[in-house]
Amino acid sequence: MHSRRSLGALMLLFVLAVCFVTKPGITPARPQNAEPYKATLAIRLDQPRWTINRNIYGHFAEHLGRLVYDGLWVGEDSPIKNTRGLRNDVVSALKELHVPVLRWPGGCFADEYHWRDGIGPRDKRPRRPNASWGGVDSNAFGTHEFLELCEMLGADAYINGNVGTGTPQETMEWIEYMTSDSDSDLANMRRRNGRDKPWKIPYFAVGNETWGCGGQMRPEFYADVYRQYATFIKNHAGNRILRLASGSHDDNYKWTEVLMAEAARHMDGLSLHYYTLPTSNWDKKGSATQFGEKEWHATLVRTLRMEEFIQRHSAIMDKYDPQKRIGLMVDEWGTWYDSEPGRDMGALYQQNSLRDAVVAGVNLHLFQKYGDRVRMANIAQMINVLQAMILTDKEKMVLTPTYHVFRMFRVHQNATMIPTDLSTPEYKIDNASVPSLSVSASRDAQGRVHLSVVNLDPKRPAVIDTTLFGGAFKSINGEVLTAREINAVNTFENANYVRPATFEGFEKRGAQLSLSIPAKSVVMLELK
Ligand code: AHR
Repeated sequence: MHSRRSLGALMLLFVLAVCFVTKPGITPARPQNAEPYKATLAIRLDQPRWTINRNIYGHFAEHLGRLVYDGLWVGEDSPIKNTRGLRNDVVSALKELHVPVLRWPGGCFADEYHWRDGIGPRDKRPRRPNASWGGVDSNAFGTHEFLELCEMLGADAYINGNVGTGTPQETMEWIEYMTSDSDSDLANMRRRNGRDKPWKIPYFAVGNETWGCGGQMRPEFYADVYRQYATFIKNHAGNRILRLASGSHDDNYKWTEVLMAEAARHMDGLSLHYYTLPTSNWDKKGSATQFGEKEWHATLVRTLRMEEFIQRHSAIMDKYDPQKRIGLMVDEWGTWYDSEPGRDMGALYQQNSLRDAVVAGVNLHLFQKYGDRVRMANIAQMINVLQAMILTDKEKMVLTPTYHVFRMFRVHQNATMIPTDLSTPEYKIDNASVPSLSVSASRDAQGRVHLSVVNLDPKRPAVIDTTLFGGAFKSINGEVLTAREINAVNTFENANYVRPATFEGFEKRGAQLSLSIPAKSVVMLELK
């Protein structure tokens, strides 16, 4: 009788424990006692390479869904606290990321945007249908609002011009309006609209996805169109614009080949777009939150294809530009899932889980690894759209796991890339495999070494025997981002469920360092 009762109590405890660790829709925790795997790492401080272009940590804000309106812009009369219409909570969170560059107004939207709609008194601005993404754009957020946002964030402005429905004259006049300090009508119009000093516009792109939503062009045709538009991108008042051509996507190597052969001389950058879909199927991309280990693994396999795309597009660029004058600008990248159930499909709103943090970490590592050619990368997109930093719901705001990775990784911006030699087992499922770890190191101007480590294995921690060549350190500290579940998210009700914590999994033995990296985590270490 007695033992039956204790058995019953034990079973009740078990059921309670299961209910506690497995909230509905959350994939259960890994076994806590998983055997760690071993890896070795050499940090080659004796072989410093290029400066990591801070623009690799760039962002993208398109007039799409609730990114610009709601996410950034609430208007001066909103009950949500704002500075000249821009949300204070969002702007101050973004400042923490040290946003280096911000791309605007699209995306597909760029090729239907006419800049004159977005200047002058707001109540006189036309309301236009957003033909790419649905709804009507009030044009309340236009050139002045965008450039004011860039100034608040300390970010460089990257404007994507309109080729699909625009003209070279419209492009030329927009640039004059923004950057001229002369006594011209357009410069005076800018002054009348409240901005005396010309702005600096360091990056201007000629169309977006001109092989698709930007005009369904063939590369030969676009190469000529590009040359024509690029001719009218003029420098005024000491401003120097880098001219960017609308580039390829995924493995469309022909586009890069033709553009480089026909227009390399006229460009400073060529873009590349690649989105990570867990399934590779645009009709059924996969859920942002309802997934198990198979989808986790498949997502990582697909996201790591970025390396092959960078290598092969770069190899074509090398043929025409061996000096690497032209940057490969990965100005759209990130995860793209099925829209949240019950949400407007055109708004591209999706949740963001620990999986997105890992995707962010491994891609940022790749951009750093190929930083001699990759000069900019802009994650898609900043707020409420695709792999966002921030989600908002009226006055509420949530920082996503991806936000935390960008905040942790900001120390790599403008630091010197330090090569690493990593030996790590593969993380396999069926016939596909990825390296179980991804690492990147840099040394900043103060001599501090930063090492970021991503453990892609969702079950097994890693023990890494690390050796520094060409340098020593006295102290070490770090941060770790992980969670109990692979699909852990931050919600408006539980905004800090996934957040960085102090990392203590290191042991220093002379110049040797032993690192214990938790399963499914992103770690940033500082050695000084
Ligand atoms: O980021 C969403 C869309 O994806 C962009 O508008 C377009 O350039 C790409 O196809």
